[in-house]
Amino acid sequence: MCGIFGYVGHQNALPLLVEGLRRLEYRGYDSTGVGLKHNDTIELLRAVGKVGSLQTVLPSSHNATVGIAHTRWATHGGVTEANTHPHASFDGEVHLVHNGIIENFRQLKAQLSASGITCSSETDSEVLAHHIALALKEGRTPQEAVANVLSRARGTWGLCILFTSHDLLICARHGSPLILGKGDGEMFISSDPHALAHHTNRVIYLEDGDMATVTEEGVDLSRLTGQHVEANVTVLDQNWGESELGDSPHFMHKEIYEQPDALRHCIAGRVERTLGRGRLGGMRLTNDVMVQTPYVGLLGCGTAYHAAEIGKMLIESMARLPAVANISSEFRSNDPVINPKALHLAVSQSGETADTIAAIREIQLKGGQAFGVVNVVGSTIARLCGQGVYIHSGPEQSVASTKAFTNMVAALTIFATQIGRTGNLSRAEGRAIMEGLQQTPHLMEAYFDDVGPIDEAVELVANAKSVLFLGRGLSAPVAKEGALKLMEIAYIPCLAYPAGEMKHGPIALLEEGSPVVIVAPNDHVKDKTLSAIHECRARGARIILIHEKGDPIEQEGDVSIGVPAVHPQLTPLLTVLPLQLLAYRTAIKLGCDVDRPRNLAKSVTVE
Ligand code: AGP
Repeated sequence: MCGIFGYVGHQNALPLLVEGLRRLEYRGYDSTGVGLKHNDTIELLRAVGKVGSLQTVLPSSHNATVGIAHTRWATHGGVTEANTHPHASFDGEVHLVHNGIIENFRQLKAQLSASGITCSSETDSEVLAHHIALALKEGRTPQEAVANVLSRARGTWGLCILFTSHDLLICARHGSPLILGKGDGEMFISSDPHALAHHTNRVIYLEDGDMATVTEEGVDLSRLTGQHVEANVTVLDQNWGESELGDSPHFMHKEIYEQPDALRHCIAGRVERTLGRGRLGGMRLTNDVMVQTPYVGLLGCGTAYHAAEIGKMLIESMARLPAVANISSEFRSNDPVINPKALHLAVSQSGETADTIAAIREIQLKGGQAFGVVNVVGSTIARLCGQGVYIHSGPEQSVASTKAFTNMVAALTIFATQIGRTGNLSRAEGRAIMEGLQQTPHLMEAYFDDVGPIDEAVELVANAKSVLFLGRGLSAPVAKEGALKLMEIAYIPCLAYPAGEMKHGPIALLEEGSPVVIVAPNDHVKDKTLSAIHECRARGARIILIHEKGDPIEQEGDVSIGVPAVHPQLTPLLTVLPLQLLAYRTAIKLGCDVDRPRNLAKSVTVE
C-alpha cells in the first residue's frame, strides 16, 4: 500500500506534506515525492528511499499553498526515481499520486502509444495522468476529464490530482482508502485518518465511486456518474495512545511494552462478572441470534490470521460451536459456501487489508453477515461491515504487529465467552476466564519486569540457517506468530509447525545445533509437547523453551524463558511476548530496520 497526503489552504504546503509523509511512512517506504503548486507552476521533487532521503532534495522553504505527496510501496515497476509519485502528464498539466492497482493499464498505455505519448515510468499510475490530460485537451472540465478516464479504468485507486491551470485538487476513491480533513479555510487529504488527526478531527470518508473537488473553501462531492453527493462529516474520536515515538528506540519497542495498557483499553467495559462472560456491545448480537448460529467463520491475514486461529479454538472450546479460521486471500479464491445465519469475524489491525475486504464482500454477496474486529477507527472494514468492535490498541505503526495481536486475541476471547455462555460455558468457567483476562495486563507487566534470557536465545537464532517454531493447541498459532515476527524483521527463514506434526517431515531439517523454539505453557497438551522436545533434542537441536514460570519443564530447554501462570485459555497473551522480544532483539543485533523492514508495508491494500 502507499501513503497519500494532500493540502490546499493558506499555509505553506511543504512542511505539512513532509509531516504527513512522516506519519504515513509505515504504509510503504520504497520512495517518496511531493508536487508543489505555486501560481501556475508545479514543481515535482522525488527521491528513492524514506522521507529522510526526500528531505535531502527539498528546498528549505517554498511558497506553494497547494500540494500533493506520496510514499510508495512498489507494485508496478522497480524502486526507482522515475517510478516515484507524483507522476506528471506529457504536457505538464496534470500531476497525481495514486494508491492501488490499475488492472487494465496495459490497454490504457497502448492507447497512449497510439496517440504518440510515451511513459517515462513503469508504473500503472502514470497512464492515468496522461489520459486525464488528453481528456482535458478535448475540452472537458477537470471533473469531467477525471470521470471520463476513471470510467475506462479497471482496478483500485485512491487518487489525488493537481492541475497546473486550475486552483483545485480532485480526489477519487475506488477500493483504496482516501479521507478528507476539513480545516478552517483549508483542506487536508490522506489515505489514513491517523495523519489528519493532528490538523482536524472533522473528516469525510470517501466511498468507492466518489470523486471530490477540493479547494480551500471546502469540498464538492459527486459520484463518477455525475450526481452530487452530500459530504458527511465525521468527528474522529481520538484513539488513546500517542503515535509519537517518545523516548522508545523504535515503534516496535514502544508497542510491545504498551501491550498491558492496550489490553486494559480493549477489556474496559466489556466484562460482565455476574453473568460470567465478556460482551462485545458493538456486535449488537442478541442471545437468540447467537444460539441459532450454525458456525463462526473467522478471517484474517498474517498476524490477524494467527489471532483468528486462536479465536477459532476458543470459540469451539467454550461454545462447543463449529468455528473455522480462513486466510482471507484463500477464502475468496475457494468459492466459499456461506450460511446466512453464520457469523463471520473479519480480523484486521488496519481495517484496510484488501484480501480481507474482498473476502467480506464475498460473504455479503452470498447473503452472509460480517463483523469487523479492527483497530483503526472508521477504517474500510469497519465501515464495510457496519458492525463489529474496535480492539483499542491505539496507533500501531511498526510494520510488525504486536499490541494489535494481543488485543485481537483478547477481543476474540471476550467474544468466545459471550457466545459460549449461550451454550455450554458455565458461569463459573466464564467468570474464571474473564477474571484471568482482567489479570493479564498485570501479568504482562510482571513478565516485562523480568523478561528472562532473551539475549541467550538471540545468540542461538541470529546466525541460524533457519529456525523451527513448534507449538500445540493454542500454542500452534503462537508459534506461527513468533516465526512471522522473526522472518519479517530479522529476515531469518523460519518454519512454524504444530508440534505433533513435526515428526511427520520437518524433523528432517534438524541437525546438530539447529535452534528450535518450542511454546509449552502449562496446559493440557504440555506433556505431548514434551515428546517433541525430546525428539528434537535427540537430533542435536538447541531448544528455546517458552514455559510457565516455575514449571519443572524449564530444565528441558537450553534456553528457558518463563512467563507468569495464567488461565490455560489465555496463554497466548503471555507466551507471545518473549517471541516478540526475540524477534525485536535479533533484528537489532543484525542491524535490520526494525520498524521499516524491507519489502513490507504496514497494511497491504492491494490483492
Ligand atoms: C504482521 O506483523 C504483518 N505486518 C502482517 O502480516 C499483517 O498482520 C497483515 O498484513 C494483516 O494486516 P491487518 O491486520 O492490518 O489486516
